[in-house]
Amino acid sequence: MSTLEGTTAVVTGASSGIGEATARALAGQGARVALLARRRDRLEALAGELGERAAVYEVDVTDDDAVATVIAGVARDLGGIDILVNNAGYGSMNPAAESDLAEWRRMVEVNVNGVLGTTHAALEHLAAAAKGPRGVADVVTISSVAGRKVAFPGANVYAATKHAVGAFSEALRQELGARHVRVGLVEPGLVRSELTEGNGAAQDAEQSQELGLMEPEDIADAVVHMVTRPRRAAVNEMLVRPTEQAR
Ligand SMILES: NC(=O)c1ccc[n+]([C@@H]2O[C@H](COP(=O)([O-])OP(=O)(O)OC[C@H]3O[C@@H](n4cnc5c(N)ncnc54)[C@H](OP(=O)(O)O)[C@@H]3O)[C@@H](O)[C@H]2O)c1
Repeated sequence: MSTLEGTTAVVTGASSGIGEATARALAGQGARVALLARRRDRLEALAGELGERAAVYEVDVTDDDAVATVIAGVARDLGGIDILVNNAGYGSMNPAAESDLAEWRRMVEVNVNGVLGTTHAALEHLAAAAKGPRGVADVVTISSVAGRKVAFPGANVYAATKHAVGAFSEALRQELGARHVRVGLVEPGLVRSELTEGNGAAQDAEQSQELGLMEPEDIADAVVHMVTRPRRAAVNEMLVRPTEQAR
């Protein structure tokens, strides 16, 4: 029997990059996986590959009501929620004076409010799952190196959002451990994805080309490691950088 056989995992931002790789990896361990994001076509393509283990839920994580409805639907359709991976995120990194305020607000909406809304909706299901046969449930949030330190000025609001989810996650960990809901953070360095290709997230393209970037699967591995520990052990934080990334 695979380690996650019989469990249900929710992965936000499963339509590309780290979320897609994580959904694939969790399904590979035997979990049923709820794929959440806005791009239904991308989710359906992944679900087609994963087969009956996967279910598609088109949702914008910044819409609290829609998220609450979807999370209730996942719990009903897939038999509860054992694992929540808060992965959906957005990054736009520019010097403050050149930044668009709407872009700043969008990062707060997706990276902070999206995590809050999804986690809030899932908590009762996670607590219930922790009382089930597995005896434990998991919340894993994909933060960033930028959630540990501000490595360069253009990281401004992106770093602020990731620091915010780090504080939230630590408070949640302290609160929920006694109920056997583990709360962990994965903090990636630079990963090849639409996020790093589509904007200045790598800060300068030259640097990113000199670095051997990680692949989304490297972060999916970290998530799988966290959620497959014995009930007694909680990996609270994993900082995973490309070998050559200095900061
Ligand atoms: N790539 C890196 O170097 C790196 C480093 C550190 C941390 N991270 C973090 O890793 C996570 C995943 O990023 P990635 O690199 O895999 O980038 P990505 O390929 O751009 O994936 C972002 C995912 O988030 C989803 N998303 C964005 N806004 C959403 C919204 N409003 N509602 C629902 N889903 C939304 C996207 O789906 P739709 O567009 O279909 O909605 C997509 O699936 C993010 O939290 C990011 O901050 C990435």
